[in-house]
Amino acid sequence: MATADRAESVPHHGTVSRDVFTTRLGVITATLGSAVGLGNIWKFPYLAGANGGAAFIIVYLLCTLVVGLPVMITEHVIGRTARGDAIASLKKLAPGKSWWLIGASGILASFLIMAFYTEVAAWVFAYIVKAIQGAVLSTDPAVTEAAFAELVTSPVQSLVWQWIVLAFIAFIIALGVSKGIERMTKRLMPALFAILIIVVIRSVTLPGAAQGLEFLLKPDFSKVTGATVLTALGLSFFKLSVGMGTMITYGSYFLDDQDIPATATRVMLSDVLVSALAGLAVFPAVFAFGFQPESGPSLLFITIPAVFSSMPFGQIFMILFFVLTAIAATGAMLSLFEVPVAYLAGTLNWDRKKATVAVLIGLAVVGSTAALSNSLLADVVFPGIGTFFDLWDYLTSNILLPVGGLFLCLFAGWVLKWDKLKTWLTNNGNLDNQGIIRAFYLVVKYVTPPLVLIILLSGLNLF
Ligand code: PHE
Repeated sequence: MATADRAESVPHHGTVSRDVFTTRLGVITATLGSAVGLGNIWKFPYLAGANGGAAFIIVYLLCTLVVGLPVMITEHVIGRTARGDAIASLKKLAPGKSWWLIGASGILASFLIMAFYTEVAAWVFAYIVKAIQGAVLSTDPAVTEAAFAELVTSPVQSLVWQWIVLAFIAFIIALGVSKGIERMTKRLMPALFAILIIVVIRSVTLPGAAQGLEFLLKPDFSKVTGATVLTALGLSFFKLSVGMGTMITYGSYFLDDQDIPATATRVMLSDVLVSALAGLAVFPAVFAFGFQPESGPSLLFITIPAVFSSMPFGQIFMILFFVLTAIAATGAMLSLFEVPVAYLAGTLNWDRKKATVAVLIGLAVVGSTAALSNSLLADVVFPGIGTFFDLWDYLTSNILLPVGGLFLCLFAGWVLKWDKLKTWLTNNGNLDNQGIIRAFYLVVKYVTPPLVLIILLSGLNLF
C-alpha cells in the first residue's frame, strides 16, 4: 500500500534524469550540496578554535553520529514517504495533529539562518574581489585583520554585498534553474575538494604548523562545558541541514528505491571530511603566523589569505578558493531559500516569482540586522549572546534546530513506530538493512530525544 501511495504522488520524478545511476548520484550531490557550505569552511573552524579544539571536535563528531545522522534519516524517510514540503509532509503523515508545527518552525529557522548566512557569503563574495586586487595577501596578522575589519565595519559595503548575494540567489530561485546549479555544483565540488587539499598541504608544511595539529588532535576536556556541548550539537544540526525541514523537502525528491540510510551516511561522512580539511587548512596557519584561534567569525578571513600569500601562485589559488567557497555557500543558500518559497508557492499557492520576491524583501530586512552588526548596530548587544548576527546564529543552531530534531525523533520513534519505518526504510523489504534500521530505530526512540533534551537544558543553564 505504501508503494501505491508513493507511486501516485511522485510529482518530482520529472525533474530528475531517468537514468537510475545518474539519478541516485544526483540525489547524493544535491543533498551534499545543501550540507556542505559555510558551515564547513567558516563555522566549523571558528567554533573549534573558540571552544578549545580537539575536545570540541570529538563532542561534535559524537553529536553528528548519534543525533545528526538519525535526524537526517528521519527527515528523508518522512519526505520520501509523504512527498511534500516540510509542513505538508507532516500534515499528511499525521493528519489533524500538531506535528506540522515542526515544519513551521523550520520555515522560521530558514529565514533567520539566511539573515546571517547571506552576510558571511557577502564577505566571501567581497573577498573574491579583494583577492583579485591582491590587497589582502599578507602573512602579517595586523594587515589581514585590518582588511577584514575595513569590510565588516563599513555599513555600505556590508549591505551592498549582502544585497548582491540575495539578488543572486533570488534570481536562481525565481528562474527555477536549480537543476543547472546542481549540475554546476556536481562539477565544482571536486574542485573545491582539490583546492582544499592544496591549502592543507601548504598549511601543514608551514614552519610552526605542529602546534596547530596538536590543537586539532589533542583533546583537553577541561574546556568542555554544558554550553560547549550545546554549541557542538547545534553545529551538527547546522552542518547536516537538519532539524528544520530542508531534508524533508530533499527527501521528497528521492527515488523510491533510494537506500536512505546509506545515502545519509555517505553525505554525513563526506561532510565531515570537508570540515576536517577546512580545519587542517586553518589551524596550522593560525599557530604558524601567530593568529588567535579564538578570533571568532573572522578566523577564516584573516588566516586563509596568510596561507595563500606564503605559497607560489598564491593569488590565483586565493581567487579560486573564494570562488569555490562562494559556490558551496550558494548550494546551501538555495536549499535555505527554497524552504519558505516552497511553502508559499506550494501550500499557499502563490506564484513562484511573487513568493521569491516576498522572501527576498523579508530577508533583506531581517538580514540587514546581521549585516550592520559590526557597524551601525554594533552597540545592540544581547547579554551572553552578542549582536544581532550572533543572536540569529544562536537562536537557530542552538535552539530551533535541536528542538526541531528532538520532535522529529519523537515523531519517528513514537508516532510512526517500527512497522512503518521498517517498511519504508527497507524499501518494502527490498533492502537487506534490517540490522542498521533496528539500531536507527532504537536510537531515535530512546537515545536521541533524552540526549538532546539534556544537552538543551544544560546548555541553556536550565538545570
Ligand atoms: N549545512 C549548511 C552549511 O553547513 C547550512 C544549512 C543549514 C543549509 C540548514 C540548509 C539548512 O553551510
